[in-house]
Amino acid sequence: MCGIVAYTGAQEAYPILLRGLKRVEYRGYDSCGVALPHSERVQVYKDLGAVDTLKGTPDGIQGNTGIAHTRWATVGEPSQANAHPHSDCTRRIAIVHNGDIDNFLDLKQELQDQGHSFSSQTDSEVIAHLIEREYDGDLKAAVTKATARLEGSYAIAVVAAGFPGVVVMRKDSPLVLGLGNGENLAASDAPALLERTKRVVYLEDGDLAVLRPESVELWRNGAQVELTVQEVAWNVTELDRAGYPHFMLKEIHEQPRVIRDTLAGRISLTDPRATLPIAAHKAPSRVIFIGCGTSYHAALTGQYFFSQVSPLPVNAYVASEFDPAPGTLRDTWVVALSQSGETADTINAIRKARTAGAWTVAVTNVMSSSITRATDDVFYMQAGPEVSVAATKTFMAQLVAVYLLAMHLAPRSTALAELVGELRAMPSKVQRLINAESQIKALAAKLTRYDHMFLIARGINVPMALEGALKLKEVAYLHAEGFAAGELKHGPFALLGLNTPVIAMAPHDGQYPRMLTAIKEIKARGAPVTAIAFQDDTELERFVDDVLHIPVAHPLFAPWLNTVALQLLSYSIAELRGLPIDKPRHLAKSVTVF
Ligand code: F6R
Repeated sequence: MCGIVAYTGAQEAYPILLRGLKRVEYRGYDSCGVALPHSERVQVYKDLGAVDTLKGTPDGIQGNTGIAHTRWATVGEPSQANAHPHSDCTRRIAIVHNGDIDNFLDLKQELQDQGHSFSSQTDSEVIAHLIEREYDGDLKAAVTKATARLEGSYAIAVVAAGFPGVVVMRKDSPLVLGLGNGENLAASDAPALLERTKRVVYLEDGDLAVLRPESVELWRNGAQVELTVQEVAWNVTELDRAGYPHFMLKEIHEQPRVIRDTLAGRISLTDPRATLPIAAHKAPSRVIFIGCGTSYHAALTGQYFFSQVSPLPVNAYVASEFDPAPGTLRDTWVVALSQSGETADTINAIRKARTAGAWTVAVTNVMSSSITRATDDVFYMQAGPEVSVAATKTFMAQLVAVYLLAMHLAPRSTALAELVGELRAMPSKVQRLINAESQIKALAAKLTRYDHMFLIARGINVPMALEGALKLKEVAYLHAEGFAAGELKHGPFALLGLNTPVIAMAPHDGQYPRMLTAIKEIKARGAPVTAIAFQDDTELERFVDDVLHIPVAHPLFAPWLNTVALQLLSYSIAELRGLPIDKPRHLAKSVTVF
């Protein structure tokens, strides 16, 4: 993963690079660094830790051009030596890299045999030495020749002593240019540029650009091309915490707005079949949802919902496990869910889907992200930038998107019309639940002392058991497992006892009697049980230790409320435990590696 930023202009580069780096810190934060070229050498400052560690760098740093990096370790442990930027032997060249170089061991050996000496264990350092070998004063030519030797993925930014600019290039890792006034920038993601400019150019695979303060030149397949300039829709103010202690809480609270915005213009009371922001395409005979992590849980919810409203066969797959045989998916829509639009496993699965003959749609939150180029069409969610590493509001936007998709393909019916009414009611129901946050905080105070937890549900709420467990693991560092309630007795029962609380989602739906049976069986084994139930449920409290109430909703919409309750619970436990909620250890928001 990793985040990169580059600047060249009239201002001091260092503070601009650091502010940009903070905006891409969600991509990794185990170490960081900056390089500024001078006439004879490139000065490199780097350290272990997140971007704020660089604030302590001594005064006297000067330069109007530079590159910066925040790392999520792939090859080589997090350490100062492995932090980027990496330099060549002469310290005249420095590079930052996001991606993976598959053939780096062979290249390293070749370069070492030629006398190059290495200072790190990373794959990235070979890029600096390859450029050094090719460099005769023409940095663009050296980068072109050096990258021709690379196998794998890369977004790189390169500076050289005496060169008043930056050379950047990408292949299978994201890179966007920012066009400013007398200054130009590049970064892994547009938010890093927003403080300086909203005018951006998204690079394609194989693009190389030379940035100077007054100009940007772009080469594609060796030929110079015009820049396609776009305006970023997001505002820099959306990237602030707006008074919340953490981005995660802010983003949870934004969900009523996110539902409204993602629904806007898509549903009407006169036609229950949703309108989609994708071009009309031949109706499919089968639908497949794919995604990773939280996005997979949205895919799975899509599968459950779809099968309730449409007779079409539908499946959900973890993207990394999706491997259809060529030619087997004709007349199939493959809907790929990815908030970042950069997840390598998902993009790889899309390629396989297309080889198998499918028509592919991306559901993503990030404009011009890699996934949008890999699919036939795009459904942009309207969640706004999500900064916290844990996905919350984008998960909600994905739920809205998959429901709309199903309601687009479903046959007209009165049941469908009823769902339209409920869709419109959901923003205020989610808001009511958020307003009742204090009941969740009280529950968090009870549960925070446990090390293990189970979450159970049936039917369309099973993905919420999985998603709730994922949130508890990633932000509260609590070992939690989600199960279909019926499965618990087939093995996990052996672990139940006084110290293994169980959260049981039991909305009043067709599954309720069986959930009640499961709860009684669990109680009989001594485990404390908390039920998440509709507000009007008066029965459950007789059988469980605690009830967390959610607003009454159509049973197919209970997952939306259950997930908000579990997001708030995970957040509250993490807060009580004093954890780094927005940047959990070992994680990154954008997973661009396999
Ligand atoms: C968990 C989380 C991850 C992502 C997963 C896929 O909160 O954020 O599990 O859902 O890495 O990411 P995207 O949606 O960007 O493809």
